[in-house]
Amino acid sequence: MAYFYGVDSYEKFVKEFQRLSGLDLNFYKENQMKRRINSFMTTRGHSGDYTGFLNALKVNSELYDAFFKHLTINVTQFFRDAGLWETFREKILPALVQKRSSLKIWSAGCSAGQEAYTIAMILTEYFPTVRYSILGTDIDVNVLKRAREGIYEERDFASTPPFFLEKYFTLADKASKTYQIKDSLKKNITFREQNLLTDHFESGFDIIACRNVVIYFTDEAKDILYQKFYNSLNSGGILFTGSTEHLFGRDNLGFKLITSFFYEKQ
Ligand SMILES: C[S@@+](CC[C@H](N)C(=O)[O-])C[C@H]1O[C@@H](n2cnc3c(N)ncnc32)[C@H](O)[C@@H]1O
Repeated sequence: MAYFYGVDSYEKFVKEFQRLSGLDLNFYKENQMKRRINSFMTTRGHSGDYTGFLNALKVNSELYDAFFKHLTINVTQFFRDAGLWETFREKILPALVQKRSSLKIWSAGCSAGQEAYTIAMILTEYFPTVRYSILGTDIDVNVLKRAREGIYEERDFASTPPFFLEKYFTLADKASKTYQIKDSLKKNITFREQNLLTDHFESGFDIIACRNVVIYFTDEAKDILYQKFYNSLNSGGILFTGSTEHLFGRDNLGFKLITSFFYEKQ
């Protein structure tokens, strides 16, 4: 594995890359980031040459986009962790809609929109009288473009009950087996670029889903983020985390665990 030495130090790389991309890698766990950067550089023939790699990033937009995607890891699916979406539908939403006639929802780190559209499908199918708005945000403009287009590949549906695919998508292209989300699901969703580590948060949310986004954030960055989520939620609002993400040791925040991975603002 290559390491960061001398003028090619990790600190210098981080500073230069922030200037280039706006992404501050100091908020991400250093060892994991180094591993990801080095593996990418090796596959692209830049092993060990950080200065050369940075220069290449400045002039090669394909390389830059691929690297950014590699660093931020935007793998996702509709109905990812299917059991948790059942809990969401059977337990979390019924309790919320008893208290509210409309819901303001945020999919934070939404990738290409699969999580936001999953929420829209569940609401449309099982809570048709509830009004809602969904904000999907991500730091990666390329995935947001895909989210707005709403065209997906077969692998995006690996966890999707077939019924939802049939009802809420149309076949976009038979040969490539791509599917287009119906416009009726798009109308209550807005996608917007945002860096969770540095940008301002809206408030008044009833649900914030932030799943599989913070895995590489430092503990300090997570502390700040969860506090900001808390401030952005209405009282009684729900934070939905990823299936490996807990708020253990963050009792001071004021969240109450409802059931695994769902936390209520007290
Ligand atoms: C693995 S995807 C998670 C998608 C979806 N939430 C899920 O659970 O399937 C992680 C997403 O977080 C985004 N991300 C990473 N760092 C971010 C940051 N600082 N601000 C906003 N989004 C970020 C990435 O671009 C990526 O699309």
